[in-house]
Amino acid sequence: MQTKIVTLEQGLEEAVRLIKSGEVVAFPTETVYGLGANAFDPNAVRKIFEAKGRPMDNPLIAHIADISWIDRLAVDISDNARAVIEAFMPGPITVILKRSKEVPDEVTAGLDTVGIRFPKHSVAREFIKACGVPLSAPSANTSTKISPTSAQHVFDDMQGRIPLILQGGECEVGIESTIVDMTVDVPTILRPGAITADMLVQVLGKVKNFDGKIIVAKAPGMKYKHYAPSCEMVVATSEEIASYEYGRQFGIGNNPVIIAKNDFLQGLDDPDFFHFIRLGSSDEDAMRNIYRAMHEAQEKYNYIICQDFGEEGIGASIMNRVNKASGGKRI
Ligand code: TXA
Ligand code: MG
Repeated sequence: MQTKIVTLEQGLEEAVRLIKSGEVVAFPTETVYGLGANAFDPNAVRKIFEAKGRPMDNPLIAHIADISWIDRLAVDISDNARAVIEAFMPGPITVILKRSKEVPDEVTAGLDTVGIRFPKHSVAREFIKACGVPLSAPSANTSTKISPTSAQHVFDDMQGRIPLILQGGECEVGIESTIVDMTVDVPTILRPGAITADMLVQVLGKVKNFDGKIIVAKAPGMKYKHYAPSCEMVVATSEEIASYEYGRQFGIGNNPVIIAKNDFLQGLDDPDFFHFIRLGSSDEDAMRNIYRAMHEAQEKYNYIICQDFGEEGIGASIMNRVNKASGGKRI
């Protein structure tokens, strides 16, 4: 068998055709290169083990191109697991979840759990998406060899054993993904990686590290509030609510301020009555100014009312920080 290295532009169609006909294809991810096959096709998955010379009792990770794909692979997904998925995917993390019946034994080595990873690398994402099915993929090296971080590494090791390698440059992260088992009482890191125990603790409150040590959040509340201003902060879901809450806080002797974009400020009943900090007109403006506004607000005022930026795009990224700052308090 001849092994080709091709770019996504040259080779996407052929790569997808190979996957659909039950063959294996090597592809880049931000951690290391993987050797993929259709995760729902047991015969294709067996070819991975053959090409690598990997023992069949070592389970494979299923790689997805959208978070919604998880529901076909896993069941009984806890809120904690969802929080980890939300916080770190796409990215260099694999979560272990309870498998669904659709996942073949060849993928999980007969375990009742499955490892799921949503890579960030654009070539991986485009390729998996075009395949339309999750790809089971171990690192694209023969068993016991070093994991490959370039297409050339894959070629040197697996030449003649696989038909195609998608080119995706050098891997940015360079070591395999963090694996965290979300099926046990205390989420447990089975393999450390770029997503660290400290990062997981911020989302989960408590994790068991790969060395068996339990790590807990340093202070209660850290789980949600780690970008918190020194005074109380709430998120107002509308202009009316912001106006009302401002008046109420003012009435009980507090010194409130409203943080919002221009259009929201214009929607307040009587703009002259309020103290406010402008974030600008676009979401990009708001993103750039949000921390500065929080700094200013905590210095001059003692109660912050922040606008809701919604759940889409940059608005959602801003809300991620705002929710942490407000401890998720919405009015
Ligand atoms: O960064 C990565 O994770 C790379 C890229 C290609 O995504 N993949 C990778 O796969 O490192 P692999 O097969 O070389 O390592 C996967 C590890 C193995 O140690 C395997 O035992 C473990 O994940 N694993 C897979 N499924 C598991 C499961 N259900 N429970 C526990 N461990 C699992
Ligand atoms: Mg490996």
